[in-house]
This record gives sequence, C-alpha cells and structure tokens, in this order.
Amino acid sequence: MNDKQIVVLVSGRGTNLQALIETTQNGYIPGKISLVVSDNPQAFALERARRASIPTLVLDYDSFPHKRAYEDALLQVLEKEDPQLICLAGYMRIVGKRIIMRFRERIINIHPSLLPAFPGLEAQKQALEYGVKISGCTVHLVDEGMDTGPIILQASCPVEDEDTVESLSERILQYEHQIYPQAVKLFLEDKLNVIGRRVFIKKE
Ligand code: GRF
Repeated sequence: MNDKQIVVLVSGRGTNLQALIETTQNGYIPGKISLVVSDNPQAFALERARRASIPTLVLDYDSFPHKRAYEDALLQVLEKEDPQLICLAGYMRIVGKRIIMRFRERIINIHPSLLPAFPGLEAQKQALEYGVKISGCTVHLVDEGMDTGPIILQASCPVEDEDTVESLSERILQYEHQIYPQAVKLFLEDKLNVIGRRVFIKKE
C-alpha cells in the first residue's frame, strides 16, 4: 500500500528532498510525498518537486508580518494535510512549539554532524574548526530544542587533513542521502520504538 503521506519542508537546493523523491518513487519508502512546502520562493527544491509532479506550496516567510503569523499559516497547512510524517530537509527555520506539540514524534530532521556535537548552523565548519577526525550526519526526531531530539540513525565519515567546508559537506551529504530515506522507511514501517531519549529499531 502506498497511502502513507509525507510532507517535506524545505528552504534551499533540496538534494535530500531529491533522495526522498527517488526512494518514494522506486518503492523503497512505503509512502508518498503529498506536498513540499518552502519558506523561500527561490528554493531549487521547489523545482525538483515540480519535476516529480509533487504539489508544492510557498509560504514566503518575508511576506508575513511576524513569525507567529507564518507559523499559523504553516500549522493550518499541516493540519489540513495531516501527514503521517513531516520531514525537514534543509529547512532553515526552527519549528514552533505549537507545531511540534500538534505533531509530536511525527517530525524528523537531517543534520550534518554527529549530534550532539555541532548543532545549529554551519555544522561542517564547526567540525573542521574544532578539529574532529570523524564527522557524519544524524536523523533525529524534532523536539523543542535546537537539534536535540532523539536520534534515529547516524552515519560517520572521516575528516581528511585536506578538507575544506565544501569537501567535508560533500562527503557528509552522500551519507545524508542514504540514511534519510532509511530513517523514513523505518518510520513509515512503524519500526521505531521511542523510549525516552532512545529510539530502538524493532526487529522483524
Ligand atoms: C543538509 O546538509 C542538511 O543536513 C541540512 O541542510 C542541508 C540541506 O541540503 N539540514 P539540501 O537542501 O537537502 O541539499
């Protein structure tokens, strides 16, 4: 059955969205992306969704008088859509408390570091500046904090001496495109068991 709905929130180029598009379309993920919402009208992610014939919606953050009005509009859209899962994929805003409460444990995010190291913006730059030898990416449930929710999956990769922010980001991104679809698949197959901070993956 292909009736589980995913809404993806984006702000930018959308390579993670692309990975989710491909893995929903090829049947790896048992669900479909019903809507892509962008807070940025220029996001290339919108073009990717259109090319895949996925409905898109722009909620241009700058056209709202304040954050609350934007969040009201987003909450309304999400309530109407009522997806099983909301995926943040390069979505550059902190999701407001009301949305998190309404969709508790139904919102997930991908972050380009091994959390809890280097939360927030420019995680790859933070990792290089700190001097870690291993970095990677994390898929986690979204809670009220900044990249603090329970961890679903992580993947690690080396930091090389020659790395720049660009080369490290590119290496991490390859792993993001693997573990984000894996995590979405596990979620939609109801294989995740969240107990406190720990997310256990149910065995067959
Ligand atoms: C990724 O590195 C993701 O981990 C972070 O923002 C970036 C989005 O890239 N949250 P893209 O828009 O999916 O290409």
